[in-house]
Amino acid sequence: MLNKTIAVIGAGNMGAALIRGILNANLTPAKKIYGSGTRMEKLEILQKEFGVNITTDNKEAARHADIVILCVKAYVIRKVLEEMHDVLHKDQFVISIAAGVTTDAMEKIIGKNIPVVRCMPNIASTVGLGATAISFGKHVHVQQHDIAIKIFEAVGEVVIVGEQHLDAVTGLSGSGPAYIYMVIESLIDGGVKMGLPRDISTKLAIQTVLGSAKLVKESNVHPAILRDQVTTPGGTTINAIHELESHGLRSMLIDAVATATIRSRELSELINK
Ligand SMILES: NC(=O)c1ccc[n+]([C@@H]2O[C@H](COP(=O)([O-])OP(=O)(O)OC[C@H]3O[C@@H](n4cnc5c(N)ncnc54)[C@H](OP(=O)(O)O)[C@@H]3O)[C@@H](O)[C@H]2O)c1
Repeated sequence: MLNKTIAVIGAGNMGAALIRGILNANLTPAKKIYGSGTRMEKLEILQKEFGVNITTDNKEAARHADIVILCVKAYVIRKVLEEMHDVLHKDQFVISIAAGVTTDAMEKIIGKNIPVVRCMPNIASTVGLGATAISFGKHVHVQQHDIAIKIFEAVGEVVIVGEQHLDAVTGLSGSGPAYIYMVIESLIDGGVKMGLPRDISTKLAIQTVLGSAKLVKESNVHPAILRDQVTTPGGTTINAIHELESHGLRSMLIDAVATATIRSRELSELINK
């Protein structure tokens, strides 16, 4: 248990996911968590679900916190950091999940040598199966590394990367759930096209993606080898693979990650100007 006081600034989708993970992992009790936002009626739902403290005053949330987690959109980061500026001090540390906002930019806005951690989680954190990349600003101590890792391990897998890689992380695992949703949707339609009832097709498509991912992860076998193992000579799978290859499936996905990475870089440059 960390038993730290945690302020979640902007307790929306991702903020609520983190609160759920922190409580499920028993990292700190609900009474030591503060969720902030702009609308009291939305915060009351959060309080009802998790029993945490709520406020529309970011400064109040940050005042007593050991850890301040910024879960607002990138364009609000400057505003909320400026609001909390007077109460932030160097015994606290700030974690941001806002896409594109660099540790350097946040350190400059805060300006008190306060440790800043930047993370890129993804939406699967809401079901405890997130993929989060973490990078550390220049004032972060080893104990704070460990705390940040524990918080995001409460909602899934964690990798540590240099900050220069966070755009590629955004292109791969940050935006990745959307690509996989398209794959699932298309598999469902494939089944429907060939006569399966939609509910049956949906169940099979979801479980196929879930099970295949679990097998790659747990077997630690390269996906190409797993694919070969299910590809009977002259059978159905090799015919489907040929079809996928002729439409450039792999190139398409590689290009998707690359183009999302480039867009993330462009947006980051605009935000940090
Ligand atoms: N969703 C993802 O897949 C994902 C993945 C990786 C990273 N992220 C990052 O996570 C952050 C949050 O994304 P999200 O999807 O959780 O968005 P979200 O659901 O819209 O949450 C943002 C929250 O911030 C609140 N907020 C807005 N202005 C505020 C202010 N001045 N002070 C305090 N709270 C304020 C909003 O409250 P109101 O609704 O009341 O305005 C909302 O509850 C973004 O920076 C995004 O880049 C998201």
